[in-house]
Amino acid sequence: MGASTAQDMRATYRGAMSRFTTGVTIITTRTPDGPAGMTASAVASVSLDPLMLLVCVGNTLATRNAISESGVFAVSVLSRSQEQHALRFASRCEDKFAGLGLRTDHDLPVLEGAVAHFACNVKEEFAGGDHTIFVGQVVSCGYAVDSDPLVYFGGKFGSLCDLSSHAQLAFEWQLAASM
Ligand SMILES: Cc1cc2nc3c(=O)[nH]c(=O)nc-3n(C[C@H](O)[C@H](O)[C@H](O)COP(=O)(O)O)c2cc1C
Repeated sequence: MGASTAQDMRATYRGAMSRFTTGVTIITTRTPDGPAGMTASAVASVSLDPLMLLVCVGNTLATRNAISESGVFAVSVLSRSQEQHALRFASRCEDKFAGLGLRTDHDLPVLEGAVAHFACNVKEEFAGGDHTIFVGQVVSCGYAVDSDPLVYFGGKFGSLCDLSSHAQLAFEWQLAASM
């Protein structure tokens, strides 16, 4: 699909970018009033030596100022069962952390049940149009081996489909049916 006017171009850009399948994370940080956090998919690895990753946060968001002021943030990569957390942290709900299973790493809140997590010190902060790009130096990280991620595609949440195990099941079913 093509685009002509600037408005068409923006809509097409959003549609095209929504076809870039991503994982879903919750970025958390500390404030004097307690933890702050938001859902984010604009997360990428930057460097292995030193260990660095980046997150892109909208300039008008409360979490943007909180990260800038604290100089630290954590990224929790959500599992397929954590869609409700993604929705809650994408809203402006009063207490996003109420009733949530949390643990801390380097004094930063990390979600229980996450597929992976990273704790970071802000190394650089760049202007990126209407977003701020925070480059974080990773001070700690971890992951769960047998956990499926939540994925985001075309504005919808989903999960990975393991085609090889489906094919194996179909094969076993055919074998059983032929006996
Ligand atoms: C799947 C998904 C991914 C998102 N990714 C980002 C992102 O990478 N950066 C961003 O600034 N907002 C992103 N958002 C929107 C924020 O989560 C949303 O604006 C939220 O209200 C911010 O919280 P705050 O206003 O309390 O800071 C995303 C929302 C969803 C549902």
